[in-house]
Amino acid sequence: MQRSADIGTHAHNAGLMQCHAGMSEVELRSFIEHVFLLNGAAGPSYTTIVAGGENGNCLHHLASPDILRDGQLVLVDAGCEFAGYASDITRTYPVNGKFSPAQREIYELVLAAQEAAIQAVKPGVVWSQLNKICDDTLFQGLEKLGFQLTRTKEAGGKLSLDDLMPHGLGHWLGLDVHDVGEKTLPGVRNKNERPLSPGMVFTVEPGLYLKADDERIPARYRGINVRIEDNIRVTDSGYAVLTSAAFKSVADIEQMMEYALGMRREGGDYMPVVPAKHKP
Ligand code: GLY
Ligand code: MN
Ligand code: MN
Repeated sequence: MQRSADIGTHAHNAGLMQCHAGMSEVELRSFIEHVFLLNGAAGPSYTTIVAGGENGNCLHHLASPDILRDGQLVLVDAGCEFAGYASDITRTYPVNGKFSPAQREIYELVLAAQEAAIQAVKPGVVWSQLNKICDDTLFQGLEKLGFQLTRTKEAGGKLSLDDLMPHGLGHWLGLDVHDVGEKTLPGVRNKNERPLSPGMVFTVEPGLYLKADDERIPARYRGINVRIEDNIRVTDSGYAVLTSAAFKSVADIEQMMEYALGMRREGGDYMPVVPAKHKP
């Protein structure tokens, strides 16, 4: 699983360094899948999602011939299969390499929610605790940014957190990308109450999807769609992030994209082969 995560991580980094305004979603998809195959993966572990701008609002948008444009974010959800095991990684970054202030505010909020949930992972913790940490962080952060919303969907059409993040926080990962196993123990009524134990692997993938035409959303944030997804293994005392090498902070993303732009201007290219640290 670490090797699958390493190849997936490397393909994301290579894709980010290849991304530029004027390329299409399928072009970026094919570049990422090329890196999977070059590094010995059997192929993608699910159909690669590359979604520029408003396409990011469709959770399973498949890469289309749409052109990635200056000023848009691109959401890339791509993972590979290696020796039968899946990785499942999402990164969101600006097509032109520089976040706008509004994009950065939303991105950093999703990142804070993801990191808070990940940092709480250790044996004995249950999913509902991770969910609550994520939701609290998003809810409070959105209120600070001027959103008026309720926690859960209710009658009357008021904006809710459920409207803005309409999917779960994560899922088991293994031989399948959505691996088998309920997040509950037989006989435990409450879903999401199965205690984590060492060796379990799962994703943590919060997102915010802010529709361009939803007038309940403050105008400056409309059209911004962000998801961030990493692969986490529970250890004896906490957690390990299998995908930690995929560029994620605003500083890393902006620096690496600027560096890649300079390199491409001079005719260079990014070496898409990852060294084999982990043998199958
Ligand atoms: N790539 C599918 C998922 O994130 O669950
Ligand atoms: Mn996932
Ligand atoms: Mn995914």
